[in-house]
Amino acid sequence: MREFVWDQLLSVEVEEIDADHRRLIDLFNLLARAVSERREPAYVAALLEELIVSTEAHFRHEERLMIGHGYLERDAHAAEHRELIDAVRAMQKTFLASGRGLEQKGLDYLEHWLTEHILVADMRLGTFLAGVL
Ligand SMILES: [Fe+2]
Ligand SMILES: [Fe+2]
Repeated sequence: MREFVWDQLLSVEVEEIDADHRRLIDLFNLLARAVSERREPAYVAALLEELIVSTEAHFRHEERLMIGHGYLERDAHAAEHRELIDAVRAMQKTFLASGRGLEQKGLDYLEHWLTEHILVADMRLGTFLAGVL
């Protein structure tokens, strides 16, 4: 199994956000390992739920920072968060109903899901926050 490694390229230059992102990546790696080791569905489901709930908490953290510092792109950024959660909840529903959806393709999707938002929307937010914090 290939590990998803956090590196400096993913840094948004705001430590409290980077720390959340590293934690989400650790959870993603635990989930990918559990899938590749064919761990029992209840364990995989527990990890997936932990990843989603941690992501929701992280999104609230960013949204609190956006509100607190008057970030103008807040609504668009929060809307992206909602779309991401909806997409992963749909994936979870499929997994819980059929035990499917977390094969390599699903994991690739999740990895993309985590990195894409960090590299675009969170980078913009990080640049803004680094100037006001
Ligand atoms: Fe983020
Ligand atoms: Fe974000």
